[in-house]
Order: sequence, then structure tokens, then C-alpha cells
Amino acid sequence: EKGNYRHFMQKEIFEQPRAVSDTIKPYMNFETGKVVLPYATFLEEVFKDVSRIVFTACGTSYHAALVGKYMFESMLRIPCNVELASEFRYRDPILDGKTLVVGISQSGETADTKGAISLARDAGCPTCSIVNVVGSSLARMTDAVIYTHAGPEIGVASTKAFTAQLAALALMVLYASCVRNAGETDLHLRFKEDLLRMPGLMEEILGSHEILQDWAMDIHHALSALYLGRHVLFPIALEGALKLKEISYIHAEGYAAGEMKHGPIALVDENLPVVCLMQHGVIGEKIRSNLQEVEARGGRVFLVADELAAQEAGLESKLSYIFKVPICHDLLSPLLFVLPMQLLAYYVAVERGTDVDQPRNLAKSVTVE
Ligand code: M6R
Repeated sequence: EKGNYRHFMQKEIFEQPRAVSDTIKPYMNFETGKVVLPYATFLEEVFKDVSRIVFTACGTSYHAALVGKYMFESMLRIPCNVELASEFRYRDPILDGKTLVVGISQSGETADTKGAISLARDAGCPTCSIVNVVGSSLARMTDAVIYTHAGPEIGVASTKAFTAQLAALALMVLYASCVRNAGETDLHLRFKEDLLRMPGLMEEILGSHEILQDWAMDIHHALSALYLGRHVLFPIALEGALKLKEISYIHAEGYAAGEMKHGPIALVDENLPVVCLMQHGVIGEKIRSNLQEVEARGGRVFLVADELAAQEAGLESKLSYIFKVPICHDLLSPLLFVLPMQLLAYYVAVERGTDVDQPRNLAKSVTVE
């Protein structure tokens, strides 16, 4: 039921603080401060001597996988690869018994993701899935399962399943840190504390949704849009562009901001909205120069920045479009930055009068290749 909401997608966007909190709570033992993964105890032995993790998924779940790589490599120094399931399964990848293969899927029924996991199993790899639908095919195929507790997702555009997947990945990082005796550093404690703060911070952002409604008024006539991000916000740029394409039918591309000069800058003119995602610190600095390049060519910048980044860059008075996001551990910032991406796509689609929950040509789960 949609309740007071006009669309399921809108309802699901606003449900995210709950979806994330429901995903975290059952897996946190608040007495010991440790993560428990009841359907994934198999991972305890695996994490002791895993040499590599391969994440595989499609669409939005693939974007969650990309964030997973940043989290695992940075927190645990375990090398990771992220693979589109449809590519991975047909290219005879190099796999062995020390490679953990993790399939991420909302539905647990995506044909290519299932195919990728079958391949991994046949190659003798330990497997794990992060799925939202209990008892789904993928959950049944893997040695270990981490369920996201987003609840049923009806809108074809994935929203709350994505943030719940990010929370599940963060829990997996904390679990692995503990197994590998790396869990007590300040870095890990701060990561854990911030994970627990996520639902509240997400709530704060959703409270400012009207700003995105205003942005949508100035974007909905565009023929194309560019999304730029770096580091852990690069996958969020990809996700922002996918959301816009999928439900508003405006062409959009997500790019690693550093690639701007290698091609997409040729597209910039006064008609191209450029959505920039910016964290504070060294990486944020780099985005600032991209932003100046866009402005110098008459492009319209829509900046989503954490509170410090906007201040550091002295941009607050200079730009017409700024959306601010609270500060948190940088590896968790995707959980926050994705919310304005979803809201913007949603409001643009509403403005264009498209069928938000059932966009043309798309199915909720892609069970055939
Ligand atoms: O159920 P899954 O997570 O495996 O689905 C994967 C993709 O089909 C899905 O994320 C798709 O890209 C969404 N419509 C994106 O909003």
C-alpha cells in the first residue's frame, strides 16, 4: 500500500532510514559490539585466509558492489574485483578456492547474477549472497547469505534495496575485521559508530527534499545530464544517472570526475545540467576544479556536497544550486549522497509525467538474459 504517497518509489525513498536500521539491528550484538551473521557463519573460516573478493551484480546492485570494493580494500586491504554478472559469466574468469564470490541482488532472481554464482561454484569458490528476498534462488545457491531487510520493493527503480545493500556490505566489513583481528582500531570504531548513525542522518536529508523538487523544475527539459563523482562517490554518480534515465527517460551519464577532460567535457554547454558530488578533503578539492571547468563553459552545476566541502571550497555564495549532506565516515557517505540522486530523478520524472513505478520497457526482476 502506498499510504499517503503518490508513488511506491516515493514511499520507498522515504522508508530508507527504516530499511537501513532494520538491516543493521538484527546483525549487531549491542552488548559485545560485534556483528553476527546468522546465515553466514560459513564466512568466518573464509575470511581467515581469503585472498580476493569478487563482487558480481547487475544494475543498481552493481553500483552497491562498486562501493563494496572501496570499503573492503580500504578497511581490510583485501583486493577486490567488481564484475557485471553478464560479463563475468561468459569470459572464463580466473578463480580459485581462496576467492570469495559475492552476488548482490534485491530480488535474488536476476538471471545473470545467478549465472555468475553458478560459475563461481563450479570453479570451487566459496560464495555469498546479499539479497532482499528471503528464500530467493540466489540465497539458496550460495554458501552464506546476508539478508537486507528493506521489505518488499515495488517500484521498478531500486532505492531502499540499494541503501540496505550498502549497510549489509558495511556489516560484512565489520564482521571480517573482527575475524581478521583488525576490528579494534579507531578507524573501525568510527566506521561502526557512523554506520549506526546513518538512519538519523538519512532522515535529516529527506527533510530537505523540497530543494530537489526545485532543481527538478530546472532540469526536466534537459535532453541529457552528466553526473560526476570521485572515489566512493563515483558509483553514486553512476547510480544517479541510472535513476534519471530509468524513470524520466532523460539521457544521463555518470563519470569519474577525473575522466571529464578525456571526453565528456566536449558535451558541456548551457543546456547540460552537471550534477557534481563532492566530499571534503583532498578528493573534494579535485572536484572543485572540474566544477570550474564546467562553469567556464557555461554549464549549469548542481552541487551536492558535504557541509565541510561546500565551506572549504568557498562555494556557498557562488552557486545557485547547492544541496548539503551531513558529514560522516567517507566510506559511508554513499548512503547519504544517493538520497538526493533518487529524489532528483523522482521529481524530474513526476514533472515529465512518466510512469514512475513502472517505467516503459523495464521489469522489476530480469529473470531472462
Ligand atoms: O534484483 P536485482 O538487484 O538483481 O536487480 C538488478 C537490476 O535489474 C536492478 O537493480 C535494476 O537496475 C533497477 N531497475 C535499477 O533501479
